[in-house]
Amino acid sequence: MKVVFIGDIVGSIGRDMVFDYIGRLKRKYEADVVIANGENAASGRGITKAIFDDLLRSGVDVVTMGNHTWDQKEIYDFIDNTDYLIRPANFSDEAPGKGMTTIEKNGVKLTVINLHGRTFLPPHADPFEKAEELIEEAREISPLIFVDFHAEATSEKIAMGWHLDGKASVVVGTHTHVQTADDRILPGGTAYLTDAGMTGPYDEILGMKKEDVIYRFRTNLPVRFEVPKKGRGQLNGLFVELDNQTGKAIKVERIMINEDHGFKA
Ligand SMILES: [Fe+2]
Ligand SMILES: [Fe+2]
Repeated sequence: MKVVFIGDIVGSIGRDMVFDYIGRLKRKYEADVVIANGENAASGRGITKAIFDDLLRSGVDVVTMGNHTWDQKEIYDFIDNTDYLIRPANFSDEAPGKGMTTIEKNGVKLTVINLHGRTFLPPHADPFEKAEELIEEAREISPLIFVDFHAEATSEKIAMGWHLDGKASVVVGTHTHVQTADDRILPGGTAYLTDAGMTGPYDEILGMKKEDVIYRFRTNLPVRFEVPKKGRGQLNGLFVELDNQTGKAIKVERIMINEDHGFKA
């Protein structure tokens, strides 16, 4: 199975990058499945039903989330009515939605798991323990298991990669919005990348207007960050090919599309 993952979609520029490139990405990588992190899809804050529907219509199969899951209150109304939107599995047991889902493409099943880090982030339940628990469950269905670990610290993400080596097919980090260059297949067969990077404004700071961010750094005065609606876009993510029998990764490749790193399709 061939899987394309798209890192944190930020605002309308990010959504437009997905709509513009998803067809080309699917052709180039012959992708069976597209997974995208949508925690910043609505102006940088959460996701709405209309945006979720647009992403599915464009060809995204599963949307994962993160610390911005609840920013758009309407998510409470639809997260329990779909199998294709998941939020971190180690959120409170009282949280709506679920943290794991299984999809089937061409007779092959893939389980997608979303987890949340807790270093420099709110103290959610232990994501390492949760991962083991869910992977045991997922293995009953299929050995193909994709983990989006939404976390701040590179060390916590690398730790999760090694923790799940040979257990998950893929461990990819999200949240920091800057792609790391450490894509590899770990010795146990797990494809790993510390952070996929973001999909959105290219000439701003992590997707937010750079003037506001610079102002906050300089003055420490409060300012509400905004996602610009105009400007150049970028798309970042990951491609992995998995063995359908063993679930182990065969190939891993970072995806980076912007005007400095051209996309040849
Ligand atoms: Fe994000
Ligand atoms: Fe995040």
